Amino acid sequence: MTKRPRAQFAAWLQTGNTITQQFLAIGGQPDMVSLAGGLPAAELYPVETLRAAADRALTRWGSAAMEYGPVEGLLALRDAIAQRLRAQTGRAFGVENVLLTTGAMQGLDLVGKALVDAGESIVVQFPTYLGALDAWRPRCPVYEKLDWNELERPGFDATLGRAKFVYAVPNYSNPTGVLVPQVQRSALLEKVLASGTWLLEDDPYHALQFEGETGPSMLASAAARSDGPYQGPVIYLGTLSKSIAPGLRVGWAVAEIEMIRMLALAKQSTDLSSSIFTQAVALDLIERDFDLEHARKIVPVYRQRRDALCAEASMHLAEWFEWDVPPGGMFVWMRARDPRIDTDALYEIALQEKVAFVPSSVFDPMGKDRSSMRLNFTRGSPEVIKEGVRRLETAVRRYLHR
Ligand SMILES: Cc1ncc(COP(=O)(O)O)c(C=O)c1O
Repeated sequence: MTKRPRAQFAAWLQTGNTITQQFLAIGGQPDMVSLAGGLPAAELYPVETLRAAADRALTRWGSAAMEYGPVEGLLALRDAIAQRLRAQTGRAFGVENVLLTTGAMQGLDLVGKALVDAGESIVVQFPTYLGALDAWRPRCPVYEKLDWNELERPGFDATLGRAKFVYAVPNYSNPTGVLVPQVQRSALLEKVLASGTWLLEDDPYHALQFEGETGPSMLASAAARSDGPYQGPVIYLGTLSKSIAPGLRVGWAVAEIEMIRMLALAKQSTDLSSSIFTQAVALDLIERDFDLEHARKIVPVYRQRRDALCAEASMHLAEWFEWDVPPGGMFVWMRARDPRIDTDALYEIALQEKVAFVPSSVFDPMGKDRSSMRLNFTRGSPEVIKEGVRRLETAVRRYLHR
């Protein structure tokens, strides 16, 4: 029998990247200091609280927690999330506005699946969250730029008019750590309303607020514009990954009813339903406001780690990089002042020096920007972070004297 070549993988896979897998693998190497991942501090995961919550959830739900659930998720948890939204905004959010997802990551995937056909455009921040670019890769979109400082630039209204949706992370963005001011959020919302497009607000970091105030979400601002059931253009993604633990894989999308229906249709063919067991655990935690309580506990630790990173970087990296101290979140975005620095190339040398970061090229929708790098400050202790920064200095010196 003649051997025939196997069928090819789909074309979009040729454009994919393995960087996320690489970073997860690097994080596991004992002698490596990884400033690359976007991971919480493992020693702060509330394991005992989760054990007790799981116990209570199993007592309450029994074998029902082991079943396939409704595609929209556990009704009581959807209701608890809607209740919170009603309390926060004074507006009429109901269970029908909430879809539970396997992390916010699945929300990104589902919005792409529900809205985008090949060649259609999405307006995103440059740089933007790598996971979002990954999620939408199979949809083959075209990316247009959202520049918060240039919302009035000629042509931007037309860009919005063509786009299927705008994607924004206004609170302590990944990768830049930027907190977008309320005036800019309002200005964008006005434009989105005028253009008839959707706005996807991805908000995993809002609880990681070190100083100042985030102000209302864009979802809340959109809801405030009318009474009655929510009908705004904002699709909001929430998650327990950063305020409790990513291992729960509990996230949610909030949107007007028709969009929730379409996202549920998209989700049905992805996984039927997310884990009802972890949703039952999440319900127990949210009913006790444990996520809010736990965030208050981790914030001072993360603030101290951010300060350690920035202080050490001032001593060791300021000659070649500049950055803004982020008022929250998990990342410092370092921009090279020295035009000789290409962070893709620096990355290879940094790995030899046993330190990892994420180069800017992977966050650039065009894949080109090599001028910056993202450093994480939440995973390691201040001592480990400082050691990482010192290794980076060694790497930069070696890179420049090659
Ligand atoms: C901006 C952004 N969106 C979504 C996610 C994914 O979150 P989840 O763990 O809820 O899937 C992350 C995780 O790092 C993120 O930074």
